[in-house]
Amino acid sequence: MVFRDLRHYLDHLRRKGLLVEVDDEVSVDLEIAELGRMATYAHLPPLLFKRVRGFEEWKVLTNVFYSMDSMYDIFGTTDLEGISKEFLSTFGELPITFLDKVKSLPSVLKLGRYSPRSKRPDFEETELDLERIPATKTWPKDAGRYMTFSIVVTKDPETGVNNLSVYRIQILNKNEAIIHWQALKRGSLAASKYLEKGITRMPVAIVNGVDPVVLFTSASPVPPGLDKYLFAGILRGEGVDVTELENGLLVPSHAESVLEGYVDLNDNRLEGPFGDHLGYYTPPDYYPVFRLEKVYLRENPIYQVTSVGKPPLEDAWIGKGVERIFLPFLRMLIPDLVDMNLPEYGLFTGIGIFSMRKRYPGQARRLMMSLWGTGQLSFLKLIIIVDSDVNVHDLNQVLYAISTTVDPKRDVMIVDQVLNDSLDHTVPNPPLGSKMGIDATRKFKEEMGKEWPEEVRSDPEVVKKVTPIFEKIRSVFRPSA
Ligand SMILES: Cc1cc2nc3c(=O)[nH]c(=O)nc-3n(C[C@H](O)[C@H](O)[C@H](O)COP(=O)(O)O)c2cc1C
Repeated sequence: MVFRDLRHYLDHLRRKGLLVEVDDEVSVDLEIAELGRMATYAHLPPLLFKRVRGFEEWKVLTNVFYSMDSMYDIFGTTDLEGISKEFLSTFGELPITFLDKVKSLPSVLKLGRYSPRSKRPDFEETELDLERIPATKTWPKDAGRYMTFSIVVTKDPETGVNNLSVYRIQILNKNEAIIHWQALKRGSLAASKYLEKGITRMPVAIVNGVDPVVLFTSASPVPPGLDKYLFAGILRGEGVDVTELENGLLVPSHAESVLEGYVDLNDNRLEGPFGDHLGYYTPPDYYPVFRLEKVYLRENPIYQVTSVGKPPLEDAWIGKGVERIFLPFLRMLIPDLVDMNLPEYGLFTGIGIFSMRKRYPGQARRLMMSLWGTGQLSFLKLIIIVDSDVNVHDLNQVLYAISTTVDPKRDVMIVDQVLNDSLDHTVPNPPLGSKMGIDATRKFKEEMGKEWPEEVRSDPEVVKKVTPIFEKIRSVFRPSA
């Protein structure tokens, strides 16, 4: 099912009995975030707060991504990989490289059903300032109230590609906020291109309350050359309805709220502290200031928020969705790759486990370096490579592979002075730190200096013969009902 907007999705949840409408009065100051976290940890469905102290004209929504079940519900399938596989099958047979494919997509699809479509907006301009928005304070020592689940819309000034990105935004006063876009992310890449052109006033819009697929896309590491509206259209199976603001940016026509303005690239101020997805406070650091010019709202607006912290919270389920949906794209780029597991507790920038079809010596290290050179996987601090017969989602199998294939001196690779997650407090000289790769594959003679030993395997004839006897033995302990 394609959801027109957030309200359509909430109606769908209501019909399924999966929306908890909360009548108790709550505060944006820590209470909504605390309840949201309690609900996510308990895998309860989304919460819609109808009475928010001091913000009577709003409803506040949280916990939309409450488990993998929520991802399956949003995409209407449990086979998330299938979505991108099906899309790629149209292009998969073409003998061109991934980058060529990415580049050719916009032109191939320009007229297609995935492209954004111009539609009249549902929102109207209104008199409001940033302090009248029910942004939440999520942890006691946060620097203030933050927009935690809004989409920052920017445009690449060279290519015209539309960027939609989820970044936290700290409200400073009625008209100013700080946008926390990290190096390498689309927002900061576009900012550096504006600066190269001598432009310091960068058009920006901050959008809240959209179809969850559009929000998911905004939090996803779509290759920078590819338009995020187009990618959202691919995932939805239908183009996103958009409308153009006076500052030239396209925003979703059915968004609940839109803040139009610009980022002053000459004005960087201290952002934070903020309790982040590592479960620690990130100390203050300098990020650029957004200045508000216009506000647009729908009638009876809904404001969507989240809280990050110790896993697994909403961002974890988005991360698992990204893992599944992007795997087929990654396989196109790195054909050796079989499967990947970015475990929730590995924080998506911490630990990644990858399996591959091993065909030649040194292949695992080659794969590590390819992964560290690929988009946001470059943030990964620890990469573990296993053979294709190891189920990367079964951590016991991964431990067994490490125990039986790794000589630490030979199979652990440490690279130093490389880009890591700037939020990671363990990084000695942020954002530069070290990374570790563990080659937990069976070794070729060239890698080990001797033949790999033979693994024990049962004699199939014996298995066949004793299985009926074993079934009898087992039935003693598991009598049939
Ligand atoms: C709840 C949530 C909060 C996030 N906050 C930030 C943030 O403050 N800064 C940042 O750079 N990325 C943040 N991210 C990650 C980005 O959304 C993610 O890297 C995404 O791919 C955007 O990157 P892009 O702008 O390059 O597309 C957040 C993600 C989620 C789900």
